[in-house]
Amino acid sequence: MKTTYYGQSCFSIETGGKTLLFDPFITHNPLAKHIDVNSLKPDYILVSHGHGDHTADLLTIQKNSGATVICIAEIATWLGNQGVEAHDMNIGGGFNFDFGRVKMVNAIHSSSMPDGSYGGNPAGFVVYAEGKAIYFAGDTALTYDMKLLADENLDWAFLPIGDNYTMGADDAIKACDFINCKNVVGMHYDSFPVIKIDKQEVMEKFVKAGLNLKLPAISESLSL
Ligand code: NI
Ligand code: MN
Repeated sequence: MKTTYYGQSCFSIETGGKTLLFDPFITHNPLAKHIDVNSLKPDYILVSHGHGDHTADLLTIQKNSGATVICIAEIATWLGNQGVEAHDMNIGGGFNFDFGRVKMVNAIHSSSMPDGSYGGNPAGFVVYAEGKAIYFAGDTALTYDMKLLADENLDWAFLPIGDNYTMGADDAIKACDFINCKNVVGMHYDSFPVIKIDKQEVMEKFVKAGLNLKLPAISESLSL
């Protein structure tokens, strides 16, 4: 299983011959100018919530690729109004797709679409594929609901660490204990001044806590 980082919370995961893309925000990310959005042809786009820094390139990439969008019901309705059919889900529900299973889980945040439409609740996802379990937290605070994932044998967790809009590094470290997962890919940092982090300092905190934190460069890939 391979993941590639595209900045902010946008990652692809390649599994079972399919490409999943999470939270596309590339063209408006000053750090991701070198990524050609038109080169991305995912089979699925998973959207955690409606904010622009997770959806700005959603329609462009969906139109280029014909990808199936996996999102909460209200975002699916918003997409439907623009002629895009999505696979709608809601918190606590799972579905078996051709690449594996996706369960939509709770996130503590807010959600509206870039045009102000209601975006439903924000969400995270657990993806089960190739015998692995991967948690993509979306934008979220630290929450006790994360303890519900402790028995899922998570192999990797994609966690926000940028603070201000989401949990910062200290709470993300607590989240690792709640979800019982030591392998973390950090996200939602550095794209804007208020979420700039000191990577060295954050890395040291995770190491001290006995955790394996990866902070891939934009366009860098990792195997999961
Ligand atoms: Ni957000
Ligand atoms: Mn965000």
